[in-house]
Amino acid sequence: MGAGKTMLGPVLAERLGRRFLSVDALVEERTGTRVADLFVERGEAGFRELEERVAAEALAARPPAVIELGGGALASERTRALLGEHAFALLLETTPEEAWGRVAASDRPLARDLESFAALYARRRHLYETTADGRARDVDGAVLACAGVHVEPGSVASLRELVPGGGDVELVVDAGVDRLHGPAARAAAGGRLTASHVVPAGEGAKTLAELERLWAALRLDREGTLVALGGGSACDLTGFAAATYLRGVPWVAVPTTLVGQVDAAIGGKTAVDIPDGKNLVGAFHWPARVVTDPELLATLPEEERGNGLAEVVKTGLLAGEDLWELDLTDQVRRCAVFKAAICLRDPHDRGERLQLNLGHTFAHALEAGSGFSLPHGRAVALGLLAALRLSGLESLADTVASLLHPERVHVDRERAWQALMRDKKVVDGKIRLVLLDAPGRPFVGARFDPETVRAALDSLIA
Ligand SMILES: NC(=O)c1ccc[n+]([C@@H]2O[C@H](COP(=O)([O-])OP(=O)(O)OC[C@H]3O[C@@H](n4cnc5c(N)ncnc54)[C@H](O)[C@@H]3O)[C@@H](O)[C@H]2O)c1
Repeated sequence: MGAGKTMLGPVLAERLGRRFLSVDALVEERTGTRVADLFVERGEAGFRELEERVAAEALAARPPAVIELGGGALASERTRALLGEHAFALLLETTPEEAWGRVAASDRPLARDLESFAALYARRRHLYETTADGRARDVDGAVLACAGVHVEPGSVASLRELVPGGGDVELVVDAGVDRLHGPAARAAAGGRLTASHVVPAGEGAKTLAELERLWAALRLDREGTLVALGGGSACDLTGFAAATYLRGVPWVAVPTTLVGQVDAAIGGKTAVDIPDGKNLVGAFHWPARVVTDPELLATLPEEERGNGLAEVVKTGLLAGEDLWELDLTDQVRRCAVFKAAICLRDPHDRGERLQLNLGHTFAHALEAGSGFSLPHGRAVALGLLAALRLSGLESLADTVASLLHPERVHVDRERAWQALMRDKKVVDGKIRLVLLDAPGRPFVGARFDPETVRAALDSLIA
């Protein structure tokens, strides 16, 4: 009571693309009577009975909604069981004083004076704590909690507690990262850690041979959790191993690159490469948690930082906010919130998640044209430039140029073009691209003649 559910709930529902249901409002609608009057007419027990019934209906609603549950609803064992079965229960963190400040002037039957209010808060606290699947103080925090993303400097030190469940943990770690952060992560996993598997640094981890080696080495049962420590490559491999081993075990990502923290570890896409192309074999398998510790980025080489900055700039353009101006932790947090919300709204990449490809059609073509020797960040910087120019947003293209310094690259033009054509089928003589109407207003499905797209691609090549 007074935690801010009524304010935050509808905003969260909109961010997640869901309906918002308030159990109190539904009870009032059914009975045509205000909650305060129901307490008088039927007593608290009578109200709780009604509340329990309506909460059960709300929890069974499909598609699932964001549901505001009244402060005392958790006293019902049935409601708690239903929450455990059907819901992600989010605890809004507050203090008795803060909550009292919100309810003192209301006519709520159980908020008559601060002393009894604080006593009620203390009595209910344990139920809240033990029922909650996640906790948050604001809407961004709520989005992150729903996506399982925990952003906190130094959080790797709490790895044992942050890996959900109590089962064994096996660590999959990028060889380069192992030297820098492996010992600390292993120590933090403590007694839950039963094995460590070192995989090649970077993209070399994402092969069928490495996957097979990992499958054979794993000893986890289905209560156990695979934990990835590394950049997007280690996370992609580990996530796919977790999706397939024993037909699926939970996994946790601990991303150690900026790309990993703002992009790759969020959203449940996992994959390995095959000789025919990158990420061609994979699965959607949402991590049980993403432990994002921006302090891990201190050891990141400059080129890897640049790769991440390109994704930060892309996210800022899509969000319509200068996210690149924020300090590192806020930058990581805001980017993670943005991507998490889109992926929660479109978990299987059937719609608006496509906007995350802004600039990437050109980037992938340039990478292919370079025989995959071009750093991803340089390719994305050029891709964003082309997308913004085709969007008619020249001054934004200048901003991107001043942030990312894209330089035309020497790549095989024909190979780049063929790769783009393979990526983007020509439909009715047109190629569809993701562009921007304005900052914060992505436009998925802009249609262009192949000649125009080819000219835009050519302009990026030296
Ligand atoms: N699943 C997704 O949604 C998604 C999204 C974007 C990218 N990706 C994938 O991510 C991969 C790229 O990942 P990436 O850019 O994070 O790089 P990466 O994982 O390939 O790592 C790049 C290099 O950085 C090193 N490194 C990592 N963390 C370090 C640290 N803290 N200090 C020092 N060195 C460190 C690694 O050892 C490696 O040499 C690609 O395979 C891409 O396909 C996946």
